[in-house]
Amino acid sequence: MLQDKITQYTQEINAFEPTSAQDVENFRLKFLVSKGIVKALFEEFKTVSPEEKRTLGKVLNDFKILAETKFKESSEAFVNQSDSSNVRKEGDLTLPGSGFTLGSRHPLSLVRKEIVEIFKKLGFIVAEGNEIEDDWHNFQALNFAPEHPARDMQDTFFIKKHDGNDVVLRTHTSSVQVRLMEAGQPPFRAIMPGRVYRNEAISARAHCFFHQIEGLYIDEDVSFADLKQTLYHFVKELYGEDTKVRFRPSYFPFTEPSAEMDISCTICKGAGCQMCKQSGWVEILGCGMVDPNVLENCGIDSKKYSGYAFGMGIERITNLKYEIRDLRLFSENDVRFLGQFETEII
Ligand code: DAH
Repeated sequence: MLQDKITQYTQEINAFEPTSAQDVENFRLKFLVSKGIVKALFEEFKTVSPEEKRTLGKVLNDFKILAETKFKESSEAFVNQSDSSNVRKEGDLTLPGSGFTLGSRHPLSLVRKEIVEIFKKLGFIVAEGNEIEDDWHNFQALNFAPEHPARDMQDTFFIKKHDGNDVVLRTHTSSVQVRLMEAGQPPFRAIMPGRVYRNEAISARAHCFFHQIEGLYIDEDVSFADLKQTLYHFVKELYGEDTKVRFRPSYFPFTEPSAEMDISCTICKGAGCQMCKQSGWVEILGCGMVDPNVLENCGIDSKKYSGYAFGMGIERITNLKYEIRDLRLFSENDVRFLGQFETEII
């Protein structure tokens, strides 16, 4: 009898409590597909007497709704589980995992780290300052008077502020020397890496921002010989024992005497190439004995203390190490370039 079947299946559906997505799927296959029970009962309904039709029509319709509702609720409850069970079916947990690719360090970070490590071994600490500086720290304290022509050596980005206290994007990391010396008393022995900005048109040889490392050593009786010895050591550690070094007299407002240091070209070993403009030598840094005016500006007794400072561009050092000829590569984020450098886990 149709009525009995409907009663029996209604009980079954009410008691149905799926514990997996597969249970729900079995339910659908049993009741709701075209060869399922609901369809079959509707077929059977066509054969019953008109009298029975009147009473059973609604009962059968309610049964169909019950089956559909039960299926809908159950499948919603197992949506997530069905996803994860699919994943589990696909994977063989006994196979080795499918590793992931490590990124690589940016060449400038690699070289900065290498330079910092060399100086750390000599007792230098690492210090950092601000990229947005005031005129005092970037210029005045470093012995650049307000109209000093040496300010033209560096194309500065000036930032106009509403309160009239204009600021600059630091043009060199020498500003960190000032911050360090203002904050305490000698001895100072610090290495100061950071980004600097200059208003230059971007090309293969110039960029509006680049990176420098500044060094500062202030104590009693520090001499130019100490400076030379430290820098000799640095060059040999970084580029190898046979690298030649030479100093040329130069001028910086904040050092007296001042020098620029060249090394024998690491690319052609001094024979002459494009990198060293056929001279066999490449300049890598500026240096000198800190001008007594700078010490006094920072509250340090220049009769008691003396010291040296040096500053170098990390890009230049990196170019010489890796033969990179276009500065723009450093900031374009091209993975074909970046992927060529040593990968480190830390
Ligand atoms: N600040 C200089 C520049 O950006 C580099 C420099 C030269 C730094 C001599 C120094 C130094 O500390 O003593 O070109």
